[in-house]
Amino acid sequence: MSIEGEPSADEARIPAREAAGDADGALEWHDVRYAVGRRGTTRRREILRGTSGIAHPGRLHGILGPSGSGKTTLLNILAGRVRERRGAELNGDVMHDGELLHASTSSREGEKRGGIIRGVQSVLKRLPLVGDALFSRRSSKRAQKPRVPVSYVEQDPKFFSNLTVRETLTLDSKLHGGDERDVDDVLRRLGLTACADTLVGGDTGGVAVRGVSGGERRRLAIACETLGLRIGKRNVDVRTSREGDDDRPLPGSSSSEVVPLPLPKSLSSSGGVVLADEPTTGLDAHQADKIVAKLKETAVEEHAVVVAVLHQPRSRSFERLDDLTLLTSGGKVAYCGPVKDALAYFANVGHVCPHHHNPAEFLIDLVAVDSDGSPEEEAADAERVAALVDAWESSFCLASEKKRKNTSRDEITSVTNAETRLNVCHTSSARRSRVGAARQFVLLVGRAWRQTRREAWVNAVRLVASAGLAAAFGGCNRDMGNGASSVKRRAAVLMQACINTSMLAVCRSLNGFPRERATVSREMHRSVGGYGAGPYFFSKLLVETPVDAVFPVVFGFVLNRMAGLNRNGRNWLLTTLALQTAAASTLGLSVGALSPSSEMALAIGPCVMVLSIMLGDETGAFAEIPASLTGVSHLSLIKWAFRGCLSSEFEGLKFDPLADAKRARAKGGAEKRTRGASGACPPTGEHVLSEMGLPTAGGARIAAKAQAKLVAANALLTYLVLKIKGA
Ligand SMILES: Nc1ncnc2c1ncn2[C@@H]1O[C@H](COP(=O)(O)OP(=O)(O)O)[C@@H](O)[C@H]1O
Ligand SMILES: [Mg+2]
Repeated sequence: MSIEGEPSADEARIPAREAAGDADGALEWHDVRYAVGRRGTTRRREILRGTSGIAHPGRLHGILGPSGSGKTTLLNILAGRVRERRGAELNGDVMHDGELLHASTSSREGEKRGGIIRGVQSVLKRLPLVGDALFSRRSSKRAQKPRVPVSYVEQDPKFFSNLTVRETLTLDSKLHGGDERDVDDVLRRLGLTACADTLVGGDTGGVAVRGVSGGERRRLAIACETLGLRIGKRNVDVRTSREGDDDRPLPGSSSSEVVPLPLPKSLSSSGGVVLADEPTTGLDAHQADKIVAKLKETAVEEHAVVVAVLHQPRSRSFERLDDLTLLTSGGKVAYCGPVKDALAYFANVGHVCPHHHNPAEFLIDLVAVDSDGSPEEEAADAERVAALVDAWESSFCLASEKKRKNTSRDEITSVTNAETRLNVCHTSSARRSRVGAARQFVLLVGRAWRQTRREAWVNAVRLVASAGLAAAFGGCNRDMGNGASSVKRRAAVLMQACINTSMLAVCRSLNGFPRERATVSREMHRSVGGYGAGPYFFSKLLVETPVDAVFPVVFGFVLNRMAGLNRNGRNWLLTTLALQTAAASTLGLSVGALSPSSEMALAIGPCVMVLSIMLGDETGAFAEIPASLTGVSHLSLIKWAFRGCLSSEFEGLKFDPLADAKRARAKGGAEKRTRGASGACPPTGEHVLSEMGLPTAGGARIAAKAQAKLVAANALLTYLVLKIKGA
């Protein structure tokens, strides 16, 4: 649509936004405002102050502006990632194809409700899990389920470190319902063929892995996030053709032929939305330009709306942009329109870009307020920026008014209605291309297994460490004999074994889970081609639990031999320690999932373990458990592990009252009074168990059942938290 008639002087200054085509499949944002509370005051800080703009499909739209001007915030709002929360106010609409992409999270909604309801809501929102479940989830659900596929390329994308580029893309392709051909295609398109079989690298696993270069990693991120657009569109094309075939069989056409039908305009034009936050930052100019070129190719080939925040693009990259939004310090718009008209527009308002000057740098300098300079300089900058914003706003209003006059309301309504139907069709088709939960589970088991298998040497170190630790424990407790003094020593060794295996497992979960979460969160939150919390979590458990169980088994085996523990109870000892590792790992996962940050998880996890040790100590060496806490002590995983170890050790064990004296004589010294030696020697292990109030038979089995329940409870809790909060 173009502005018709004789242009006035003002109109001549308006960049030809419509040159890009009509608003079919365009992403528009209207009067987006975002303000956050200032710490310690009731005043708010406005980050975006009414930004509006439009990005068209098939064109690369750049967002430029000085640091802190709100570029990332705007992009996150477009992606539906910014939620209204306590102290943050978000207003404005983001539209795609004339329909709301995500419902506005405006606080106006809240203001309409009564004071009491608002009060109750505000209290509930403060409770971490309840608040998330009741409120954030609704908004995040809106954010995660936009009407068209929305891909977000992060600034510092994280991947599973031990997978190759090809394996990473193959998994993504299969999650999108694609196959190997799509992978070869995307590898070629994004210039990743040379590094297809290189490990991606990073620190997702037990140790940081050297992998692909920064530029390749960014291109991989673009490949992963845009893979679904092509597969989704192809599925829609095939399905539409088939449906069309069924509905309208063409005379003379054979049933096996797929008759290409013309797609409805909106369907064929709507290639999704790709948002990229500073995809070039930290790269050299050549690599950065390659990224911009790939984004442009994606926009053209997928007919997608591609919006990228660019940090200091070189002139060549700037020229690759089709459209531009220039944000000023203070979060306002100084320009939004075709790049080719930008310099002419600014020249018209009195700012001519000098020759041989990078236009991107010129524009960013133009709208920056330098707060480091003198007050006069700052005031001059602010005045210049305010004038540019005024100039833009007046020309923008003029253009909007013109557009309004040219488009009758009836036309808009009928177009919108038709497009709504088509978009529903597109979206549901795209969604249907997602694979089911069972297939997701199988695919994710494969990834978890690869990731674990390639950490073989980390596991080898863990194995040696477990055996070494057991040898050290066993060495310090060698030759306990079977006299009265051995009762306490056996109990102490077993308690140490329980604490050691639990602590190792908890720390491993607390350390590993958060590192994986950034990747998993990115993948789970995709609008298309993601996966559910269930398939991810249970595939992880299925692969990692048996591998983790190997280490306590080795530990228990070496300890049993070195310390001369009861051989008859060895199998139950190993079972108890393996279950203890599973219980502690899942406890670490649930603490990690519930904690808002990895630092908090690392602070909370050890505290939970220390409480668990205190409540689980049957010997009373650490603390006497008050009667009122007996119920809570059943939740202590140390309690059940210790009980299981005690039962496996003492059931069927016989003691010799003279053994301590014989041992002392054999050592050639005077009989040393050792702890427990003065007490009466229990004839059998069953007597020891009964003195402790434990069952004299089958105690290890009872404890194992309780441990299994704790594993299940922790796993369920983690799953629910992941399901409600997301990874
Ligand atoms: N949730 C928030 N709370 C407080 N300040 C924020 C929040 N989000 C963004 N900001 C502030 O808003 C400004 C703009 O942030 P951002 O969008 O990241 O800028 P840009 O990407 O343009 O550099 C920054 O000064 C940042 O500190
Ligand atoms: Mg930023």
